[in-house]
Amino acid sequence: MILNVNGSKHKVRTETRTLLDVLREDLGLMGTKEGCSVGMCGACTVLVDGKPLSSCLLLAEQAAGMEILTIEGVGSAENLHPVQQAFLDEGAFQCAYCTPGFVLTTVALLNENPSPSDNEIREYLAGNLCRCGSYQNILRAVKVASKSEAVKVVLKP
Ligand code: FES
Ligand code: FES
Repeated sequence: MILNVNGSKHKVRTETRTLLDVLREDLGLMGTKEGCSVGMCGACTVLVDGKPLSSCLLLAEQAAGMEILTIEGVGSAENLHPVQQAFLDEGAFQCAYCTPGFVLTTVALLNENPSPSDNEIREYLAGNLCRCGSYQNILRAVKVASKSEAVKVVLKP
């Protein structure tokens, strides 16, 4: 089976496994985190054809032929995505375990709705949990990102 991840095609083992396991174990994409394993925390969020999905609930086969984006495909250490930069600037994390999921969900949100209200942000990010309780800073980071000129350039490439 071929998976299209971060713009590259990868041949992966075909037996029934979650997308989360394939990303981490076969492709070494450890930025996709495992939290609850039952679709409740958002730590394993990836974008599939632009939509945030819990990769722990999805069989890898279900994502074949679709565009999968993980946090490794969003910016780089030298050139952070504006959403990542906003999270950094606003201190929107403590342990950062939840951050890849939050960043990817924010990218999807801003693609759909470039100027979300506070309530729209809260609603869209409701499936992502932060055990460190960084919610106020996360909300601020999403608002900062939504106002940044740079974000308009990188979204919807
Ligand atoms: S690990 Fe997938 S939603 Fe929690
Ligand atoms: S920063 Fe620790 S879980 Fe969110």
